[in-house]
Amino acid sequence: MYEDRILRSELTNKIISSEQAAALFKDKMVVASSGFTKAGDSKAVLIALAERAKTDPLKITLMTGASLGHGTDGALAAADALSLRLPFQVDPILRKAINNGEVLFIDQHLGETANLLKANNFPTIDIAILEAACILEDGSIIPTTSVGNTASFAALADKIIIEINTTIPLSIRGLHDIFSTGTYPNRPVMPIVAADTRIGRDAIPVNPAKIVGIVITSKTDSPAEIVPPDEATKAIARHLVSFFDNEVKIGHLSKSLLPLQAGIGKVANAVLHGFMDGEFENLTMYSEVLQDSTFDLLDSGKMTFASGSSITVSEAYYDKIMSNLDGYKGKVLLRPQDISNAAEVIRRLGVITINTALECDLYGNVNSTHVAGINMMNGIGGSGDFARNAYLSVFVTTSSAKADAISCIVPMVSHVDHTEHDVDIIVTEQGLADLRGLAPRQRARVIIDNCVHPDYKAGLQDYFERACERGGQTPHILEEALSWHTCLRETGSMKPAVLK
Ligand code: COA
Repeated sequence: MYEDRILRSELTNKIISSEQAAALFKDKMVVASSGFTKAGDSKAVLIALAERAKTDPLKITLMTGASLGHGTDGALAAADALSLRLPFQVDPILRKAINNGEVLFIDQHLGETANLLKANNFPTIDIAILEAACILEDGSIIPTTSVGNTASFAALADKIIIEINTTIPLSIRGLHDIFSTGTYPNRPVMPIVAADTRIGRDAIPVNPAKIVGIVITSKTDSPAEIVPPDEATKAIARHLVSFFDNEVKIGHLSKSLLPLQAGIGKVANAVLHGFMDGEFENLTMYSEVLQDSTFDLLDSGKMTFASGSSITVSEAYYDKIMSNLDGYKGKVLLRPQDISNAAEVIRRLGVITINTALECDLYGNVNSTHVAGINMMNGIGGSGDFARNAYLSVFVTTSSAKADAISCIVPMVSHVDHTEHDVDIIVTEQGLADLRGLAPRQRARVIIDNCVHPDYKAGLQDYFERACERGGQTPHILEEALSWHTCLRETGSMKPAVLK
């Protein structure tokens, strides 16, 4: 049985049901699961664990690569089975539990979790659940649609449960590039000199003695919810594409630009689609999540190679990719997230990073995570890993949110994820602010002139002028700096703060 999926035959004795696997967990355990932006996650065991927790209470610490699909985070949170979650999530039920203080959440740079574990700065992982397409003769596994932290979890966990996903074609072998960053002080160089440099092997080493169960599943990844570009996101894409067209025209970049990274969400996906329209050729990606737009660029021939840590696409694209995996070999590589997000590689390649802000301030500081400064949205994800080390760090956002009740350009951000030092370009549907080489007062003028929604422009200009009267390198009226957010909390809109 499953001889094509479990090549080390004695391991077939370890096949158990998801309920039997769920029974292996104990209260207070530290659990790790494969899964990165809904791709390659545990689809059977964690759901069975949530089911068990409804009648047999237990609470675990759960770490992953990034977000899980199939409502798994929500099911675990609803069953009160999570005490601590890291490093990223996107689930509305879990989000509510985090913001109510019922589940603790460590919002972490996605490139850092493996380092934290390897340095023993976090309790040992009791059990890791790893999705695989198959197990090889030596026990190593071929991962599925993501690599994420799977290789680190496999190396560091005391016990391992493998979820064999029979829907993943075996031809996926060869799509992964597994390399270990090692431990300090003897970490090897990561010799990636272009997006397509392969440096590792095609499988994740696993000590067969650690495998305590193998669960067979046939559930596909949760599809990404792709929102078609609207007028605002199309305008953002246009501004950015014409910026890059100009960089090519003045000789700062070639038509291939430099490797691109694009973040999650509808804005980033739409912006990447925008590259279909420019005069670009032989584009490459050195990114984290490969979305629908990446495959459009690859299929159209505009892009020649995409390196990431997961394939997170809509249903139609998923089916197309799974039925043509051989066609994408040589064009796509999936790597561990401590490699895809490594400062060393991002800096060497000169990656152009495009991430989404919830809000930006006058001087270019960016909040990507906390709604009105307090409530967690998703997490910083890889945006910090990329922005800090980029050749060019771009942040995109619509200029307003919630039917214009919120300005996404504010006097002072209510939470800082990316400081002004890591932000080169801000783009809204209103226009683009190129902040390179500008001092704070110059940055403020460029942002006000180009990016602010008309309803808030005069208000921000007025704030800035009055702040400048007080003086300072980075002028502010501290008692007023967060007044737009206070007004939003009290009235449901920032507008009264501007109109007063
Ligand atoms: N204040 C409050 N809410 C805001 C807001 C603001 N300043 N700006 C946007 N929002 C709301 C939107 O109204 C929307 O709400 P809804 O879900 O109720 O409709 C929600 O935030 C998402 O915004 P949207 O405009 O749909 O953008 P998106 O899908 O592109 O997501 C982020 C934007 C910032 C939430 C998302 O990109 C993210 O989580 N980023 C952080 C992680 C990251 O950058 N990873 C990149 C590496 S993978």
